[in-house]
Amino acid sequence: MPSVFIKTYGCQMNERDSEAVAAQLVAKGYSLAKSEATADVVLLNTCSVRDFAEQKAMNKMKNLAGTARKSRPDQILGYLGCMAQSRGKELIEKLPDVDLVLGTQKFHRAAEYIDELLAGKRAKIVDIEAEAKSEAAIREHLLNGSAKTSVSAFVSIMQGCNQHCTFCIVPATRGEERSRTIPDIVAECRELVSRGVREITLLGQIVTSFGRKEKRDEWQVTRDAGGIVSPDTRHLSPFVQLLDAVHEIDGLERIRFTSPHPKGYGDDLVEAYARLPKLCESAHIPLQSGSDRILKLMHRGYTREKFLSLVEKLRRAKPGIGITTDIIVGFPGETEEDFELTLSLCREVQFDNAYIFKYSERRDTPAATMPDQLPQAVREERNERLLNLVNEIAARKYDAFIGRQVQILVEGPSKKNAARYTGRTRCNRIVLFDGSARHQGQLMDVKIERTGSFTLYGDPAVVNL
Ligand code: SAH
Ligand code: F3S
Repeated sequence: MPSVFIKTYGCQMNERDSEAVAAQLVAKGYSLAKSEATADVVLLNTCSVRDFAEQKAMNKMKNLAGTARKSRPDQILGYLGCMAQSRGKELIEKLPDVDLVLGTQKFHRAAEYIDELLAGKRAKIVDIEAEAKSEAAIREHLLNGSAKTSVSAFVSIMQGCNQHCTFCIVPATRGEERSRTIPDIVAECRELVSRGVREITLLGQIVTSFGRKEKRDEWQVTRDAGGIVSPDTRHLSPFVQLLDAVHEIDGLERIRFTSPHPKGYGDDLVEAYARLPKLCESAHIPLQSGSDRILKLMHRGYTREKFLSLVEKLRRAKPGIGITTDIIVGFPGETEEDFELTLSLCREVQFDNAYIFKYSERRDTPAATMPDQLPQAVREERNERLLNLVNEIAARKYDAFIGRQVQILVEGPSKKNAARYTGRTRCNRIVLFDGSARHQGQLMDVKIERTGSFTLYGDPAVVNL
């Protein structure tokens, strides 16, 4: 049977989509190639969030088409995901070596289309149509694909986003918000746990909107199916009802989710951290800017003060909670004063980590045509200043772990050094230690001895004799 290699750009949602596509192909008898050079089919699962991510995937495809193709003229080349969705057939017009362009609502069709291309039934396929119920079609898992995925798994709970932040292309690439039903998601999680998974991360572009757009009556029926949702949680938001339902699964040890939106982070979600022991004390809450003026231009729907009060509530509900964020620097019209408000907010919050993005104009987004687009040099300079601050704060927070005992879930051998094993704390920090295969999948206590860049080094022997 043919072999396939999938390269993934971008976020965890994309990682999850690639895993589901790989699992479908494996189920049909395809093998997974170790590299693009030996594969019969190479798929690039793309990201459109910033121009840089698009350029990277396009350059990669050009290289594949140029060099690799000479030696493998029958190799099938395809684009999947966000850039495929937003650029469509233009990608084949630009580079006629591309055989397949598959949008974000069509991942579940990949195997069928690749069969047709390999059999020569069709020469080119572009499918970026919307498809009803596609949000529930990302469900296959590849638990044996790598040691790590068998301990910890991602589950896609919804697709799309209706928030329309003025800088963001995601509502265009992923479409309107559509949520799966709670029984459907719980069934997938149960299956994963029965196959050895101990930690589940619930995924969506804006998980705090889970179930909000669905028709009340339909939702009620599906929610009640099989008594999965406890009547005691009916007054809570649909997302918290989902957390409660997943929490009931025996054998599941840890629950995480990403990404919430600060606007939808209600008190019931804050309280869930105190109430649900399996919900790990870590939260990734995208901030984007510390200036109310910029937040308004971004159409974020909250203020600096609201964000700060959310962080405070979370820390009160769950002391020691790890809080990370996303920040954009150089948004159109951002002044030095606005940027300093972002710096001061970071000092105030003391994030455990922050992903910093230089603003990138995206086609057909309102921000791209706003006045006062900032020169690249300003974006670079602010990026560097913020990065220095974030790293300095993060390093201090990591150092504070030295000498402490933490619980980790062991994922498997470290990628860089197979003699070391890697696990994560409940607040989502990576810990490396001298372990062995018998530790994999275990929850264990380790004592932190030293720190590296965004890594803790632990010693299990101290406490696990
Ligand atoms: N809610 C989604 C957001 C997807 S985009 C999620 O968490 O997955 C991820 C991050 O990319 C955003 O939080 C934002 O900080 C950044 N981003 C989005 N559009 C951008 C743009 N046009 N330029 C720079 N960064 C951007
Ligand atoms: Fe994008 Fe804003 Fe939604 S960042 S994914 S439009 S919440």
